[in-house]
Amino acid sequence: MKKYFVIGNPISHSLSPKLHNHWLEQNNINGVYEKIKLEENEIENFIYKIKNQEINGCNVTVPYKKTVIPFLDKLSLEAEQAQSVNTICFNNGDLVGHNTDISGFQKAINSLNYKIKDKKILILGAGGVVPSLIVALNKLEASEITISNRTSKKAEDLKIQFNKINTVSWGEVPDFDMIINATSLGLNNETIDLNTSNIGEDKFFYDVIYNPNETNFLKLGKKLGNQIENGKLMFIYQAFEAFRLWHGVEPNVSKKILKLLDHD
Ligand code: ATR
Repeated sequence: MKKYFVIGNPISHSLSPKLHNHWLEQNNINGVYEKIKLEENEIENFIYKIKNQEINGCNVTVPYKKTVIPFLDKLSLEAEQAQSVNTICFNNGDLVGHNTDISGFQKAINSLNYKIKDKKILILGAGGVVPSLIVALNKLEASEITISNRTSKKAEDLKIQFNKINTVSWGEVPDFDMIINATSLGLNNETIDLNTSNIGEDKFFYDVIYNPNETNFLKLGKKLGNQIENGKLMFIYQAFEAFRLWHGVEPNVSKKILKLLDHD
């Protein structure tokens, strides 16, 4: 039986096992997918088990998407660009790090028929997922990407990694077409203080969070009359691409799958 894992810390909230095990069964693949909480000093040993073929692959989540990189033989172009790995495969003797958050975001946006091209994007946050969002937004030809983060140093570090982005201080709201919440604010019913006086109602509020379904950030966007979307499709499509990389099969993305992840 093939064995897959998602590694992270904390990990108890992860819905990846639910999704992957559903698809494994649906595709008659003899495999199992589990979550495992690892401390940083356990990562190298764990990854070695993939090289050893005791394990067939893993997903990587917060806070280890960068930590795993030194232990891999190769990176996909996208993982290299984002310096972030969320999927590890074993290919022809090599441990290969992929980043499927990027295509997950692109596919989610495409499936909504929203056009990023020539749009001004404001990202709130500078944590683990943001480099992947920036790579995806550049591929989708956003005209401007601005980062606003509580800790300005982290936003400035992103400016060094990606030379085309702007930064503004936390709380400042420059003109934008699409605003993305990539902070953890909203996971526990927190609100984000935004000056809404110039936002208007032709904008797109996107939240990377999908549990709860509608954060206070999305509620605000809706109240102002804007389009809103949570991160559920991005989550599903990052898993879709990992599944395709490991099994060579495109899993089914249906209403049933969307329901499978509902838990509020
Ligand atoms: P990490 O920072 O370890 O990568 P993350 O969950 O990927 O963790 O990112 C958390 C994001 O939420 C960060 O942008 C964080 O801002 P800081 O860089 O200033 O820590 C943001 N965040 C978390 N709590 C916040 C709060 N109370 N106010 C504003 N931003 C907050």
